[in-house]
Amino acid sequence: MNILKVGILASGNGTNLQTIIDKSEKKELPVRVVVVISDKPDAYALQRASKHSIPTFVVKPRDFADKVSYEQKMIDILKSHDVELVVLAGFMKILSPHFIGAFRNRIINIHPSLIPAFCGKDFYGMKVHQAVIDSGVKITGATVHFVDENVDAGPIIIQKAIEVKDNDTAETVALKVHQIEHQILPEAIRLFAEGKLKIVGRKVFIEE
Ligand code: GRF
Repeated sequence: MNILKVGILASGNGTNLQTIIDKSEKKELPVRVVVVISDKPDAYALQRASKHSIPTFVVKPRDFADKVSYEQKMIDILKSHDVELVVLAGFMKILSPHFIGAFRNRIINIHPSLIPAFCGKDFYGMKVHQAVIDSGVKITGATVHFVDENVDAGPIIIQKAIEVKDNDTAETVALKVHQIEHQILPEAIRLFAEGKLKIVGRKVFIEE
């Protein structure tokens, strides 16, 4: 079977990254994580990658004159590792059309809500889950989507919901959402690797 080369961008803890590494090593996913890039030198995701001998790079926006040259550095690293799919797994920077154009329809993101609810540039990290609690919604969840020029608005690949109970807090919701992220992100990557995702306009069709 063809093994898809995946590059991962992560700014934080990296539990989603860990799930992908573990499943690929157990041959449950037909992919290999070939490089991990972070904008944060202290991101635990980098240590997770190193423990599995995956090359890591820190690319910080402030080290570059502008966003295009910052992103070009990441593009160069990804291309030099022959990356076929870019996965944003807790990556906190918004990518410009320059980056998106370099990997058109080959970038996916995991977002911790049911898009189009609780998404966009002001909704990240615990802010999403606090907004969920404050709003009184009875369900939330996670979404894996292709990345296009609009923040958190590219074609949706998979969504999964969880119930928000009366005694839930932002922290308990975050825990439950993380658990489903660890299911749907690998599943979306598997579908991509197997060539089963077809984008038609705003929709993603999953071939049997
Ligand atoms: C996840 O909740 C993801 O949806 C969001 O950032 C978080 C990353 O978690 N984009 P982790 O670093 O993979 O644990």
